[in-house]
Amino acid sequence: MNRLKAELDKDIRDKLDAVLEPIVLTNDAVEKIMAIFSKHMDLANSPDENHRKKSDLLMGNSFIRELLDGSEQGDFLGLDLGGTNFRVVRVSFKDGKAETTTQYYTLLESVLCGPVAGVFDFIAESLADFVGRYEMAKLHKNIPLGFIFSFPSSQVSINQSVILHWTKTLRCPDGIGDDPVALLQAAIARKAKDLPVDIVAVMSDTVSTLMAGNYLDKDCRIGLILGTGCNAAFVEHISEIDKWTGDDKDPQHVIVNVELGSFGDSGCLDQFRTEYERELDRYSNHPSSFTFEKSCAGMYLGEFVRLILTRLIKEGVLFAGQGDKLMEDRWKFTTSHVTDIESDKGHSTVKTMEVLKKFDLATIATAQDVAIVREVVEVASRRGGHWIAILMAVLVNHVALPEVTIAIDGSLFERHPKYHDSMMEVLNKFCPKSKVKLILTKDGSGQGGAFGAVSALRQAARDLHSA
Ligand code: GLC
Repeated sequence: MNRLKAELDKDIRDKLDAVLEPIVLTNDAVEKIMAIFSKHMDLANSPDENHRKKSDLLMGNSFIRELLDGSEQGDFLGLDLGGTNFRVVRVSFKDGKAETTTQYYTLLESVLCGPVAGVFDFIAESLADFVGRYEMAKLHKNIPLGFIFSFPSSQVSINQSVILHWTKTLRCPDGIGDDPVALLQAAIARKAKDLPVDIVAVMSDTVSTLMAGNYLDKDCRIGLILGTGCNAAFVEHISEIDKWTGDDKDPQHVIVNVELGSFGDSGCLDQFRTEYERELDRYSNHPSSFTFEKSCAGMYLGEFVRLILTRLIKEGVLFAGQGDKLMEDRWKFTTSHVTDIESDKGHSTVKTMEVLKKFDLATIATAQDVAIVREVVEVASRRGGHWIAILMAVLVNHVALPEVTIAIDGSLFERHPKYHDSMMEVLNKFCPKSKVKLILTKDGSGQGGAFGAVSALRQAARDLHSA
């Protein structure tokens, strides 16, 4: 796909192009990646375990089959553990209309890489703080709670799951194989005994975002997270799930959590990966895993850009070969720097200069350097937007409805001024049969946790078993 180019000296232009051209995903690459992703979806869907093992995807049953219908009443809680931030959300329904209160709590780095019990103690204490702050004990009944646990897990029932790996910022030495709901219950017993809550559902943030999106727009069939990590869920017909072993009562659909961050872990994307993605992976928290996520999520985009800039400095294309601070400090160039630079409109370079100042480059940067930095950031961001949109195109074509809304939560999508448009470039071209809309459901993943709790209670009342 074509890209915008700044006017530069011919020699510099040629060198820059030689670095940036391989980063652009061609239409041919898009088609090939779509085909590989479809194949992995089919494998993950197979009733044969040996086939499923060959897929990079989980395509997990979320056990959530009921979407909201507008008749909801009362109070529900959502607990959202995703990366660095942890949030507690209260949703009060009046005749189906949701009013939401959100409180953020920040997990310290020492807790994120310490024993898993420490993480859950923090959650239990924060939950107790929230319940106390909003005087929820006065409700005189246990409040149904949906726990959004956004790490790869294999779901056993609507409120039971098994942790498969840690990803993103979490690096606990233990916890794999445990049930996050049991861990939370144990932490509540330790730190906040008699807390008036019932954990009725556990789900991925993609599932809760879908629920929140569907509350706003009934054409919403896909929930996507583009934040620290990235992943998606979609509404699937039970008849399409070859590995389905649950009942076939109404509703005849269920939300499927794709766990697409690990797409490429088998090596199937190697021919499309750049040297920067490989290097970034080597120095990441979890090397050789979550290949796809490392190509487009917020935790990695800044580092991806920094590695390209480093190469250009080394080749003498940028900053006359200077820029030690930028070249040496891995992970210090963050995705916020990327979104800041992308926020500069037209000829303005105010934001870009602010970022360069942080790396002691503002005084040495020429107008040409600034133009190059902006172009690199744009090309790299656009690649990220295209990557995720390729997988979304497959999901949209799979859902196969004339209008499909994708609900998106996460700081990357929220703050990046051009991700939406980059994604639409791919979706418009590769989803010929559907009109696709992308909506931001800010804080939707937390709110949707409470919505998931509503579904759990409704399903329990209807006795749906979706194993
Ligand atoms: C990571 C997790 C996934 C989650 C996503 C977005 O990819 O493995 O479960 O949905 O991040 O938070």
